[in-house]
Amino acid sequence: MPIDISAPFTLPCGTTVKNRIAKAPMTEGLADPMNRATSRHETLYRKWAEGGAGILVTGNVQVDRRYLERPGNVVIDQNGGQDELRAFAAAGTLNDTILLMQIGHAGRQTPRRVNPRPVAPSEVALALPESAFGAPRALSSEEVEDVIRRFVHVAKTAKETGFSGVQVHGAHGYLVSEFLSPLANRRDDKWGGSLENRARLLREVVQGIRAEVGPEYPISVKLNSSDFQTGGFSYEDCLQVVKWLEEDTVDLLEISGGNYENPAMMMGGRGADEIRATTIAREAYFMSYAEGIRKATNIPLMVTGGFRTRTAMDAALEEGNVDFIGIGRPMCVDTDAPAQLLSDPDGKAIAYEQKIKPSKGALGWFCLNIIRHADGMEPDRGMTGEQAISDYLVNEENTAAALVGRKLD
Ligand SMILES: Cc1cc2nc3c(=O)[nH]c(=O)nc-3n(C[C@H](O)[C@H](O)[C@H](O)COP(=O)(O)O)c2cc1C
Repeated sequence: MPIDISAPFTLPCGTTVKNRIAKAPMTEGLADPMNRATSRHETLYRKWAEGGAGILVTGNVQVDRRYLERPGNVVIDQNGGQDELRAFAAAGTLNDTILLMQIGHAGRQTPRRVNPRPVAPSEVALALPESAFGAPRALSSEEVEDVIRRFVHVAKTAKETGFSGVQVHGAHGYLVSEFLSPLANRRDDKWGGSLENRARLLREVVQGIRAEVGPEYPISVKLNSSDFQTGGFSYEDCLQVVKWLEEDTVDLLEISGGNYENPAMMMGGRGADEIRATTIAREAYFMSYAEGIRKATNIPLMVTGGFRTRTAMDAALEEGNVDFIGIGRPMCVDTDAPAQLLSDPDGKAIAYEQKIKPSKGALGWFCLNIIRHADGMEPDRGMTGEQAISDYLVNEENTAAALVGRKLD
């Protein structure tokens, strides 16, 4: 029997997923001024759970309210919010959906409006012109240990409040990914230098979570196939790290790439000529990396970035180098994109077509449409890039201004 997107799959920990489509993690920006989950998460995740995906990965939930990826992130520390998380989890697990909470620390990619002095492995600022990000200070070794405890605490809370599993955000240039990168991590203690040392934070986070949640609770990791930067975390590094993550009993690896300096996650990395050689890779730009990763590890693989048609999804599954198809941007518009795909064996494209160019406020366009769903509205398919830029900025400034209960360094 050929495998296609409708086939169930059982993760190593024993959890069975009803099909092969996973909503990729996407920041929601819907928390209240105390960074607790709200009824807007419930509304949004109910729609997504009704939309047919086997897995929903949440947007990144933060371990430390001083270093957010965005002012409206959910934070889990000692400040309550458990009842709201329970309601969020109940909505996102409707319809036999597996709901993974993505856990992250923004590191030096914390926006200046959240904190002008973020933390990082080393004092290396982002190489971005007119940076919206402050220069970071280096974490002390004790503070790195504290970060690990915080990840474990969030995972424990996820399990207690009804999330089906967790995903550690080790990609896209946030703190864990910064530790992996020789460009951002210039440390000479046990957290820097060799790949073994650079991967120590990620591995200790995963090992700590496993010890806390037990063998039957799904743990996923999102990892870059490469940062696509000279001297950064490379594909060869990735191939070694995935072997270690298998020893650490990871159940699902989501493959992506890039960071804020080089946003390959949205459009593919450098080396695009080489990776566009096959039809599947033309659509899903990290698939050719999955082939090598498949040879390096037995961890089930999810690949995210560019997948749009059932034809390419089924072909990628049938080729055998991927187990789950990650879908991000289409889900901001058509929350039922998985159901549409599953009921369309002829392979026509997902209804949504991207009309916004990356430079024209695209991220804001998708974020604002997520918020519209959370507020019970239909998506605004005709929103212009200019409108998205200005509305998104206002939304972020207002959310940042409303934040309470934070004490910055
Ligand atoms: C609005 C938006 C928010 C995102 N937030 C996150 C996030 O919180 N965590 C993460 O790992 N990736 C995040 N991503 C990246 C997506 O998970 C995914 O890797 C990317 O959109 C490429 O997949 P696609 O081509 O199917 O959209 C985000 C993407 C978008 C468009």
